[in-house]
Amino acid sequence: MLDQHTIQRLLQSLHFNQPFDLHVLETVDSTNQFLKDFPIASNVTICCAESQTQGRGRFGRYWHSPFAKNIYFSIRYQFNCTIENLAGLSLVVSLAIVKMLKNFWGTAEIQIKWPNDLIWQDKKLAGTLIELIGTQNSTTDLIVGIGINVNSMGRELTTQLERPSCSLYDITQQTIDRNMLIAQLIVQLHHDFQQLVTQGFASFIRDWESLDYLHGKPIAITQPTGILSGLACGVNEAGLLKVCDTSGMMHYLSAGETSLR
Ligand code: BTN
Repeated sequence: MLDQHTIQRLLQSLHFNQPFDLHVLETVDSTNQFLKDFPIASNVTICCAESQTQGRGRFGRYWHSPFAKNIYFSIRYQFNCTIENLAGLSLVVSLAIVKMLKNFWGTAEIQIKWPNDLIWQDKKLAGTLIELIGTQNSTTDLIVGIGINVNSMGRELTTQLERPSCSLYDITQQTIDRNMLIAQLIVQLHHDFQQLVTQGFASFIRDWESLDYLHGKPIAITQPTGILSGLACGVNEAGLLKVCDTSGMMHYLSAGETSLR
């Protein structure tokens, strides 16, 4: 089971010295919502839960959150910079999750579908939902919500309407210690957030290129203005998706849902 003291002890053993508040809950509507409503007392506040009754995904979707199986994690973080300096943040979060999984759990072959779906064998392993709380005097307050399918079996999570899901259990055939995973995630996120603030997204592009699921593939992107089709050509230094259309024109996209054609 998730345990606050265990996570704190593991963080100490990983030499994590940043002050933070940690809330470990049994059940909650949404860990993102909890952090939105909670009066903040620290620059870094974290909430994780055994289950969510109204887990939120991107595009208003529901995030299935069965009890004591997976990770439902949110971090509220006050960045010492303006929002413009955080271009590429959602990509950085996905990269942090993949790096952490590869370093500690040896899970190869995971890729990232721009902007932030973790994919293994064409199935979704994890997703991220970022919500802006506010900006003030060149600080930016954000909530980063992360759902990782850990010990559920992917087929339990896949509904008929959605893209197929998978879990770390499907990949490793091992039950994974979620307290350890959360501690490692906190360390990696904090490290990569600092790198983003000081060096920008350009310093992550190499990592991105090695994990880009869409690269060179024909894709369609749904946007408020319509559907754009073309070839995915990686990302630029602001984390925008480069798409070359049939007339050879390059488009730079900041948002939208991508699918393979
Ligand atoms: C997606 O659609 O891919 C994003 C899913 C994000 C789910 C996580 S689980 C923890 C946090 N709390 C929420 O309500 N959503 C995010």
